[in-house]
Amino acid sequence: MRKRILSAIVSTAMAASLLAGCGGAAAPAAEAPAAESKAPAAEAPAAESKAPAESAAPAAADAGDKTIGIAMPTNSLERWNRDGSFLKEQFESAGFKTELVFSNNEIDQQVSDLENLIADNVSLLVVAAIDGESLSTVLKDAKDAGIPVISYDRLIMNTDAISYYVSFDNYTVGKLQGEFVRDALDLDNAEGPFNIEFTAGDPADNNAGFFFNGAVDVLQPYIDSGKLVVPSGQTSFEQVATQQWDTQNALDRFQNILGSYYSDGTKLDVALCSNDSTALGVAQAIQSDYAGDNKVIITGQDGDEANLANIVDGIQTMSVYKAVANEAVATLDLGVAILNGETPDAGLIDAAGWDFECAYDTSSYDNGTGIIPSYLLVPTVVTKDNLKEALVDPGYYTMDDKGYLHPVG
Ligand code: GAL
Repeated sequence: MRKRILSAIVSTAMAASLLAGCGGAAAPAAEAPAAESKAPAAEAPAAESKAPAESAAPAAADAGDKTIGIAMPTNSLERWNRDGSFLKEQFESAGFKTELVFSNNEIDQQVSDLENLIADNVSLLVVAAIDGESLSTVLKDAKDAGIPVISYDRLIMNTDAISYYVSFDNYTVGKLQGEFVRDALDLDNAEGPFNIEFTAGDPADNNAGFFFNGAVDVLQPYIDSGKLVVPSGQTSFEQVATQQWDTQNALDRFQNILGSYYSDGTKLDVALCSNDSTALGVAQAIQSDYAGDNKVIITGQDGDEANLANIVDGIQTMSVYKAVANEAVATLDLGVAILNGETPDAGLIDAAGWDFECAYDTSSYDNGTGIIPSYLLVPTVVTKDNLKEALVDPGYYTMDDKGYLHPVG
């Protein structure tokens, strides 16, 4: 029942988006009135076929005999719960059985979870790695058993068992954060100097470096010219990384930074955080330990519920949203093509007819065994000003009467 409701919401919202003449995820349907998303889908028959639950790819032959193994890193970080349920829903709506596992952010557990899925004879593995470097051995077993593997969201390193990577454009996520800071401070015109501190992600996650580099590449010229200053001096990825993307780790480190470099009244202008779980900890540290009374610009990524509440409350400034519902659709269509014995390439995007933007990339992601062909979706900046049009109107979140957002699915 819940599945049907979600499909209907996303379906009609995407229909509204199409009617407004723009792609669902990348360009919110600004012209779609709120009521539109409640209109019966029958009014937009052409767009109806774009609903995630009715992916355009032909169903795999004998889907009912096949089980898809879905391995997510942890259910302690919000986004992976959403990924897990969207993936499960997508594959089940195409007729497959699924086995969904979360591995508690523990590498050994993920290895044994994958061993179990392989022993269960799954037909396809969709894996978001905890540690991109630690799955070579177990995925060799998958390869030997003839089970194809899609590296989901995070690139799995040093294994030729994976054939494809589905993610968002990770470098662009960081670039959007850096550009947001540049524009918010008007770095090209303002005199400055402004103070900034960086908080990056888990070094075990191949994405984390892409996010950090994307942001730093935008901001480095201003650091070099002295317009942006990093009072802690912590500017390398290793210095600013956060083990396991953990909120408490980010909070602890930031309290230390505030205590060591800002307790004399030094003003903090920006806390650039690679994602929402770290931004949550940094925001707490600022609230409890920062002496200044200016509004610190805080960036994030994911659109986690608590962070969106912080955006509504003016505590966090922005997040980079990634429509994981669409990431699941792309993964389904790719998975079906692989199971049908095809060798998907850029043509999959046209054949599938997705109404969200996606690029086929054959140059950016080398996992140590060679380039892994990648399907990269496009992230979107969300701020207090566009929460409704970017997240609520397309059907990804609902808004309660106090203006807070709650994820659908
Ligand atoms: C990354 C992912 C981000 C963020 C982070 C922490 O790999 O791309 O969206 O959620 O992990 O879970």
